[in-house]
Amino acid sequence: MLKINDSSNPRSERSLPATIIPGQPITALAPMQDVTDLPFMAVIAECSAPDYFVTEYFRVHVQSKLEKFILSSITENKTGRPVFAQMIGEDVYHLKRTTKDLLEHPVAGVDLNMGCPAPTVYKKACGGGLLRDPAKIDEILGELRAIIPGLFTVKMRIGFQDTENFDTILQLINKHDIDLLSLHGRTVKEMYRSEVHYDCIKHAVESVKCPVLANGDVKSARRSREILNYTGAAGVMIGRHAIRNPWIFKQIRELESGKEISKIRLQEVNEYVKRLYEMVSRPHLSEKQQVNKMKKYLNFVGQGVDPDGKFLYEMRRSQDKQTLFDICDRHMLDTEREFFADEPYEGLVARPSCEK
Ligand SMILES: Cc1cc2nc3c(=O)[nH]c(=O)nc-3n(C[C@H](O)[C@H](O)[C@H](O)COP(=O)(O)O)c2cc1C
Repeated sequence: MLKINDSSNPRSERSLPATIIPGQPITALAPMQDVTDLPFMAVIAECSAPDYFVTEYFRVHVQSKLEKFILSSITENKTGRPVFAQMIGEDVYHLKRTTKDLLEHPVAGVDLNMGCPAPTVYKKACGGGLLRDPAKIDEILGELRAIIPGLFTVKMRIGFQDTENFDTILQLINKHDIDLLSLHGRTVKEMYRSEVHYDCIKHAVESVKCPVLANGDVKSARRSREILNYTGAAGVMIGRHAIRNPWIFKQIRELESGKEISKIRLQEVNEYVKRLYEMVSRPHLSEKQQVNKMKKYLNFVGQGVDPDGKFLYEMRRSQDKQTLFDICDRHMLDTEREFFADEPYEGLVARPSCEK
């Protein structure tokens, strides 16, 4: 049963935060390591806020402490939208210790990562590695549920190598009263590029008591509606396509309200890129390092700039800020093309990969 707070229903500890437009499907910005930090969340919120944010994961191990820069996205959050704190780990004692530390801060809820496909992570049985071990999941979810009075959420994939444990894990989601499940419709081994198994997301929606957010290749507002229609999910979680198009959350709200979807002008995209540069600049980074950092975002943005990938080609070769900005101006201001593409142009890939 979907419990979403609205103004007529005072918030209980276990109801999900209200959506920006009451009654609409939930939208969430997917957690992305080295991307979804405080400045990035601020820039996204300036373009169009999602209903929920999720931090990149706090690593949990014997010596771990809450990483300050991740914590700042909770303690200094001025977006007006709730932030869930995600953690990754395998040791129950230290996961509980970290949960207690997180609950000292204004988190909307605590989220457990059961999907990270990085071999260094899953070899330790953390993240996606946990999906091989339902008994361990049972223990972790039970112990954490017992100490989290508020929202306890899980983000996971549909399996490790295959979906053999999927049903067992969905039943554990029910057994431990998880409040929200974000489901990336790929196995760990499928990483990020294969087709997304929306049928598995639909199956999860039919199997669990809590709301499910469909995740994986939600490329546009229209695509979001198709995926919601097919899976019956309570909402969508969007990662890479929100880096490319930070107006996607607003466009989803427009479509869901029966309004025309705003078309985004390349000029606005140029302003977004410059704003991002300013916001993610750090004094300890050299200009070249800063430009390289921007390429991580521009690899996604560039998929909607021109169909031939000329912007991507030139941007990837820039070494300094002025050259990079000139390339942006040439492709987004001094061009006959007026609009940014709603979905990535065919054949343009976000390379080199910044995916973990
Ligand atoms: C650069 C990058 C970093 C990521 N870091 C995290 C993370 O810290 N925690 C997590 O649960 N998922 C992480 N993911 C996975 C995303 O949250 C999301 O599940 C995945 O990208 C699929 O959604 P998309 O197609 O909308 O990008 C990361 C993905 C990318 C591309």
